Amino acid sequence: MVVFDLSATAPKGSPDFWTGVGFGESMADMDFIGVFVRNGQIGVADTNTNGHAQPAPDEISNVQVLSFEFNGGIVSASFARPVVSPDLKDKSLENCQTFQFPVSGGPIQGMGLMKHLETPKSQQVCSIVTKCVGTAISGGAVTADGATTGGGDSCSFSSGNYAVSWTFDPATNNINFQLSTLVEGPKFWTGVGIGKDMANLDIMLALVDENVVTGISDMKADRQGEPQNDMQQDTIYNNDGSVVDGRVLLSFSRPLTTADLAGDLSIDGDGCTTFQFPVSGGAFIGQGRIRKHATTPVSKEVCSIKTLCLAGRV
Ligand code: HEM
Repeated sequence: MVVFDLSATAPKGSPDFWTGVGFGESMADMDFIGVFVRNGQIGVADTNTNGHAQPAPDEISNVQVLSFEFNGGIVSASFARPVVSPDLKDKSLENCQTFQFPVSGGPIQGMGLMKHLETPKSQQVCSIVTKCVGTAISGGAVTADGATTGGGDSCSFSSGNYAVSWTFDPATNNINFQLSTLVEGPKFWTGVGIGKDMANLDIMLALVDENVVTGISDMKADRQGEPQNDMQQDTIYNNDGSVVDGRVLLSFSRPLTTADLAGDLSIDGDGCTTFQFPVSGGAFIGQGRIRKHATTPVSKEVCSIKTLCLAGRV
């Protein structure tokens, strides 16, 4: 995750205004994290532009709001986003990226964003991952043999071709996952597990059949064997299972706690929960019968999701 701390002054005569930070060369294809002040209320949103018009919200928000404040005409906001996001609308911050700083911001009239008062300043930013290292905010991910692996923080994990991030939405009490991974084979499964091991594992599993996502199941394992579908299905598939250039992008949600005591484990939004990431996925053989993961999934303890992974708000 890259954490941004932004503070900006309202333009003269515009108590309602926008500011933020953009990634990309031009407005033809810009990834923009917008900070909006309307009637003294602050919103932060993951957006994009595809021309000289106001930004549109991304279908999937990968920005987490950490804190914000509006005082004396100055807005201060801290927010975070993954270095590499599963959302194709988000630019990678991994190597070099052009950052755009709308230093004077722009007015907001009604619901409409007006043009920036001056052309944003651009700057090439490189090697954030190695040069801008802050304090890690959650445990590292570990493989079954105890080695630490992968990148990420409390709200994301990535290893090899697999990347997943999650946000907490207080309005629904749901946790929303965005997962992107290379589809390795014509009948492929991927997903996320909740729990310490297969003896008691709650699983959100997606099947990708010939490059088509055929749905997401809520499953449970009670031993090192094939998981079974829960009687009650609590994983909400947000119908965003597109396969582009051999990668699948999935968006799914579930409540922190479900009513399915037999099938599901709770995600502790204030404390810690162990997530399991099957980074290599596995194959399936039709009719939902899945084969074992190609490599043992990687586990990671994730803490304080409710406060650290708050979904961006418009
Ligand atoms: C037919 C399906 C599956 C079979 C037969 C199976 C079998 C096994 C076996 C034998 C192990 C021991 C370590 C190894 O050999 O790699 C293991 C470990 C593990 N599996 Fe699975 N697995 C299946 C599906 C899944 C799924 C869908 C998940 C979801 C993420 C999962 C999560 C894990 C985890 C977290 C471990 C390490 C902890 C433990 O040993 O229980 N497995 N599995």
